[in-house]
Parts: sequence; structure tokens; C-alpha cells
Amino acid sequence: MLGKLLIPVLLLSSSLLLAAADSTKTAEMPKHGFIGATACEMCHHTDKQGKQFEIWQNSKHASAYKTLQTDEANKIAKDKGFTTAAAETPACLKCHAPAYNVDKSMLGPKYKIEDGVQCETCHGGGADYKMLSIMKDSTKAIANGLVIHADLKTFCVTCHNSDNPTFKADQAIDVNAMWDKIKHPVPQEAK
Ligand code: HEC
Ligand code: HEC
Ligand code: HEC
Ligand code: HEC
Repeated sequence: MLGKLLIPVLLLSSSLLLAAADSTKTAEMPKHGFIGATACEMCHHTDKQGKQFEIWQNSKHASAYKTLQTDEANKIAKDKGFTTAAAETPACLKCHAPAYNVDKSMLGPKYKIEDGVQCETCHGGGADYKMLSIMKDSTKAIANGLVIHADLKTFCVTCHNSDNPTFKADQAIDVNAMWDKIKHPVPQEAK
């Protein structure tokens, strides 16, 4: 009698566990909405500000989603046992276009998943800090969702690690050299 009751209970609880582990099915609800890189471009494209938009656009981060649309990417996904195209595979999107999983209601009309690893991937959703009066004041901006990463080492390796199927284990990760390729400082005289 007890055995008959236990089996369905066990089956039920293990399927609940599976559902909880498969986070790709539930959309993420971040605290702050995403507005898209072109909304940051408005202010972050001049020489005086430091051309952050152009620097990003010319970096590989801006084409990280497009990379998933290549034959090479599809082959990697297939070899790893995925049955979907790379650009539709959550296990690839999580690093190449992390907002793929964000609830649509939190994505503004200009936000494009196709922009890959973009401003708000690293700096947090900008809907609440984009106003000049807030942006100018670091403390206010942070209180409204801006994320600043003082420690590159821990931040960059959240994606640049051996979970990346193209990761070359014999190549040491030199975060400072990587940062040199994508850094986008505000020139001293603008501050
Ligand atoms: C209305 C203009 C405007 C918009 C839109 C804007 N910014 Fe800014 N942002 C500024 C100004 C002005 C500063 C201050 C720059 C300085 O240090 O002089 C700033 C500073 C920053 C800083 C440095 C903050 C600090 O305290 O070190 C980051 C990071 C940043 N912006 C990211 C973004 C991102 C990401 C977006 C889009 C989601 C965005 N900004 C949209 C005007 C803007
Ligand atoms: C959300 C995940 C993510 C984070 C966080 C991230 N990256 Fe990347 N990065 C990528 C992906 C994906 C690519 C590959 C883009 C492509 O080629 O399609 C990449 C590529 C690069 C490249 C180009 C490599 C080359 O061959 O030239 C550099 C440089 C780089 N990242 C630097 C950094 C630095 C520095 C940080 C931390 C400040 C960082 N990344 C944080 C996902 C990330
Ligand atoms: C843990 C994060 C992460 C995951 C998950 C991930 N990638 Fe990447 N991917 C990266 C990074 C980082 C790079 C850039 C490496 C570099 O050049 O430093 C990259 C680069 C690539 C490249 C370009 C390689 C080259 O030599 O130009 C392809 C293609 C690629 N990834 C496909 C995939 C596919 C397909 C999946 C899913 C099966 C996937 N990635 C999952 C982080 C990731
Ligand atoms: C791969 C992650 C990444 C991406 C993509 C990215 N940033 Fe940054 N950004 C950083 C890091 C790390 C710093 C240095 C620490 C900090 O201030 O957050 C930084 C610094 C900044 C600063 C301050 C520079 C200074 O001198 O004080 C501004 C402004 C900024 N980013 C704007 C942008 C804008 C606008 C975009 C998109 C066009 C963008 N960032 C894309 C990671 C990124």
C-alpha cells in the first residue's frame, strides 16, 4: 500500500525538480528594463564622451549573435548533441546574446537580441538610469540599475571560460590584454 503511494509521489517531485532546473522555459524578470545599444549611442558616441558606441560596434561582442548563425556554429551545436540551430539553442545564447531569456515586457522597442553582447549585458538594463540628470551622477545611476565592474578578472570570466565550446585550454586568459581590445574610457578632460 505504502509502496504504491510512494511511487507517484516520487515521480511527481522529480518532474517538478526537472522543471525548476530547466530555467530556459521561464522568462527572466530583471528589475530594470532594457533599452538597446542605440539608446546609449545618443550620448556615448562623441569624441568628447569617448566613442563607446563605435568601440563596441567594432568589437566582436557586437557580432556575438551573428556568430551563432554561421555553419561553423551550427556544427559545434550539433556535435555537442543539440538538435536546434545554434542561434536557437539556450546553451549558446546564454553567452552570445544573454537577454534571449528576458521577459519581452522588459525589452524596449529598440532592444535587439541580434546585437549580441551589448552595453546593457555588462552595465545592466538602462531604462531607469538613461536620463542625463541621473547618468551624470554615478551614485544615482548605480541606485537606478547601472552596473560598474571594478574587478575585470571575476566579471569577464563569467563568459570567457571553459564552458565556451571553442575555449582553448592551453591558452591562458589574459584579462588585461582582452580589456585593451574593448576598453572604452571617457577621456579625462570630459570628466
Ligand atoms: C542622455 C545621455 C545619456 C544616455 C542616453 C546614456 N548615458 Fe551613460 N553617461 C552619460 C553621461 C553624461 C555620463 C557621465 C560621463 C562622465 O564621466 O563625464 C555617463 C556615464 C556612463 C557610465 C560611467 C558611469 C560611472 O560612474 O563610471 C556608464 C557605464 C554609462 N554611462 C553607460 C550607459 C549605458 C549602458 C547607456 C544605455 C543603456 C547609457 N549610458 C545611456 C550620458 C548618457
Ligand atoms: C555575456 C558574456 C560575455 C561577457 C560578460 C564578456 N564577454 Fe567577451 N566575448 C563574449 C563572446 C560570446 C565573444 C565571442 C564573440 C564572437 O566572436 O562572436 C567574446 C569575445 C571577446 C573578445 C574578442 C576575442 C578575439 O578573438 O578578439 C574580447 C577581446 C573580449 N570578448 C573581451 C572581454 C572582456 C575584457 C570582458 C570583460 C570586461 C568580456 N569580454 C566579457 C562574451 C562575453
Ligand atoms: C560560457 C560562455 C559561452 C558559451 C556557453 C558558448 N560560447 Fe561561443 N564563445 C564564447 C566566447 C567567450 C567566445 C570568444 C572566444 C575568444 O575568441 O576569446 C566564443 C566564440 C565562439 C565562436 C567563434 C570562434 C572563433 O574562433 O571565431 C563560435 C563559432 C561559437 N562561440 C559558437 C558557440 C556555440 C555553437 C555555442 C553553443 C553550443 C557556444 N558558442 C556557447 C563564449 C561562449
Ligand atoms: C563586455 C562588457 C561591456 C560592454 C559590452 C560594454 N561595456 Fe562599458 N564598461 C565595461 C567595463 C568592465 C568598464 C570599466 C568598469 C566600469 O566603469 O564599469 C566599462 C566602462 C564604461 C564607461 C565608463 C568609462 C570611464 O572612463 O569611466 C562607459 C561610459 C561605458 N562603459 C559605456 C558603455 C556603452 C555606452 C556601451 C555600449 C555601446 C558599453 N559600455 C559596452 C564593460 C562593458
